[in-house]
Amino acid sequence: MKNKILVTGGAGYIGSHTCIALHQAGYDIVIYDNLSNSSREAINRVSKLIGESIEFIQGDIRDSELLKQVFTKYDFFGVIHFAGLKAVGESVAKPLMYYNNNVSGTITLLEVMTEYKVKNFIFSSSATVYGDPEMLPIDEKSPRSCTNPYGQSKLVVEHILEGLAVADSTWNLVTLRYFNPVGAHESGQIGEDPNDIPNNLMPYISQVAVGKLAKLSIFGNDYPTVDGTGVRDYIHVTDLAAGHVAALNYLEQQVLPVGFLPINLGSGKGSSVLELVTAFTEVTGQNIPYQFAPRRAGDIASCYASADKAQALLGWEAKLSITDMCQDTWRWQSMNPNGYQS
Ligand code: NAD
Ligand code: WQD
Repeated sequence: MKNKILVTGGAGYIGSHTCIALHQAGYDIVIYDNLSNSSREAINRVSKLIGESIEFIQGDIRDSELLKQVFTKYDFFGVIHFAGLKAVGESVAKPLMYYNNNVSGTITLLEVMTEYKVKNFIFSSSATVYGDPEMLPIDEKSPRSCTNPYGQSKLVVEHILEGLAVADSTWNLVTLRYFNPVGAHESGQIGEDPNDIPNNLMPYISQVAVGKLAKLSIFGNDYPTVDGTGVRDYIHVTDLAAGHVAALNYLEQQVLPVGFLPINLGSGKGSSVLELVTAFTEVTGQNIPYQFAPRRAGDIASCYASADKAQALLGWEAKLSITDMCQDTWRWQSMNPNGYQS
């Protein structure tokens, strides 16, 4: 049996896919999630897919007493920390909620880890910490800045991790900066299940395709890009999940602690909104009615990763294509038109 891993936020979109990849790689998993943005059904489906029941504790990362009970019960090799709130617009309206959940929650978790001497930590950061990039592709040394509370909460946690690495050289603090995660498990059993009208492009497209939403609004067609629409680095959630397994494997091989280690997880390729809409239509045969709308506040023109560091250190690279991303998103959406409530 391989090492035991605590997966905070493991019932969520990226966490659920990562649990499958971890199980396939032989890790023993415990999910810790307050289900504030996910459902037990996701955990049931992960259990079905892996063929055994996953250990699940319903709890909040800000609940240090419960965390201590969990760390007393299990001997963890490390923690993969997905738990957090992630809606940029909501964070502007409710900054305290975002800082409390994402920053205070992470501090509480790190304090308990310190007490129990568990020093392997993999953190879900975001390309949003790069703000409006000066250079493309974006490498890990690029300057960081954020304008919304969600992004700032990620940046503050990064600074906390940097401080922790300076103060105590026994930590391994791998900070994975995800670009734009999309897609779903190839089974169509698990995927992204937004609570409300989706904020992000791919779930919006797929809800138009399934008839839940009438029309996509494309935010801006006057950006300095290939066709005027915003360019992003879309990455299949299955590739992203594999990136976490690669990061754990890497930590297991290290003789000396790595300290604060930021790594981009992206495909290295940019696609425009129109390119994604066209690919989705071609792959699925579904027509996506759209209209051009004004730019969305806070959006940037282009963003894509240099994924060289992930390749060099972790031996990881994105394998799945935009076609796979559209196909798998559509399989999940059409099989589960109402997400986990289908
Ligand atoms: P998600 O909302 O699907 O999953 C997050 C999970 O954390 C949910 O299951 C939620 O119930 C849980 N959670 C939230 N607050 C909690 C708390 N206080 N205690 C315990 N559990 C809590 O989101 P996701 O898309 O899977 O994202 C996972 C992580 O990756 C997040 O930290 C997010 O900020 C980060 N990230 C996501 C994206 C993206 O586009 N999806 C991009 C970059 C970074
Ligand atoms: C992609 C492109 C939009 C919706 C966000 C967060 C970021 C990270 C990933 C967590 C842009 C355009 C979108 C729509 C559109 N999350 N668009 N119509 O903004 O790159 O990143 O998710 O860390 O922090 O900010 O992703 O999917 O919202 O947008 O035209 O209805 O699609 O303008 O060009 P984004 P997105």
